[in-house]
Amino acid sequence: MPNNTDFCYLDHYQGERLQRQYTMLFGNNQNIIANKIADEIFTNDKAKKVLDIGGGTGELIELLKINQASRDNLLPSMFILVEPFDSMIAEANQRKNPPDVIIAATGEGLLKVKNDNTQNIDVIILQGVIHHIRGISLEEFFKGLYNMLNKNGKIVLITRPLKVEFPMGEQAKKSWKECYTTPPDDMPKLLQKAGFIVSVSIETFPITINRVDWLAMIKTKNSAVFSNISALEQSQIDQDYLEIKQKYAKNSLITFLDHQIHIIATKP
Ligand SMILES: C[S@@+](CC[C@H](N)C(=O)[O-])C[C@H]1O[C@@H](n2cnc3c(N)ncnc32)[C@H](O)[C@@H]1O
Repeated sequence: MPNNTDFCYLDHYQGERLQRQYTMLFGNNQNIIANKIADEIFTNDKAKKVLDIGGGTGELIELLKINQASRDNLLPSMFILVEPFDSMIAEANQRKNPPDVIIAATGEGLLKVKNDNTQNIDVIILQGVIHHIRGISLEEFFKGLYNMLNKNGKIVLITRPLKVEFPMGEQAKKSWKECYTTPPDDMPKLLQKAGFIVSVSIETFPITINRVDWLAMIKTKNSAVFSNISALEQSQIDQDYLEIKQKYAKNSLITFLDHQIHIIATKP
């Protein structure tokens, strides 16, 4: 269990609501992303070893397993969830298609775990988690992951730009930027320095959410996307809440675009 006093260490990940909010916000977009990641994993009929770092409640792993089952002649791959929070792990264990192995660790802590489940990896997924890595430079972190991968192994890193279109109030916007210790634009270069061949694309997904649901996410400091919002004072949350409530007073639905940075880093 990580130290929750660290900035961006999200007490709201310790339980409730996160998966429900994710489904409400990202819905089918998450299926589209899972299918794209599946195409990176299931490149031939070999069984692959896949690590999902910060994989939360195991939703992505479950979608990948369903995708795998829909393909013919595939040897079953091994899906390993790396997740620091017990409550997320408990939910992952209850899925119909749970992870094959669970490692209770942070991404940075994982580098010190030396066993069969952290060696000879084919694909490492980092979705929505790179901004949580603390106490180690990203260059060091990427080098550590490089050493865990097989030749031709890949990192699939999905993150968001510093400027996003999520309808956040001024306080949350500021806090969002502060959460990144390394700007996302610098990440491809750091991966190259660690030895990877890197390709980057920007993917955009439309999101529509009920105004009441969005406001509830702000109010409970519990939004799936604003992990950094936990760092805000209640008065700042109240300020943002009023700002957004007034801005969207006439809308029952809020629509915006979710721009994501998708990085594929391959070990030559
Ligand atoms: C925004 S959620 C993303 C969950 C999942 N990867 C997805 O995209 O659906 C961030 C996840 O990272 C986990 N996490 C937080 N700090 C972490 C760290 N230092 N290393 C690994 N995972 C961490 C959280 O518990 C949470 O499950």
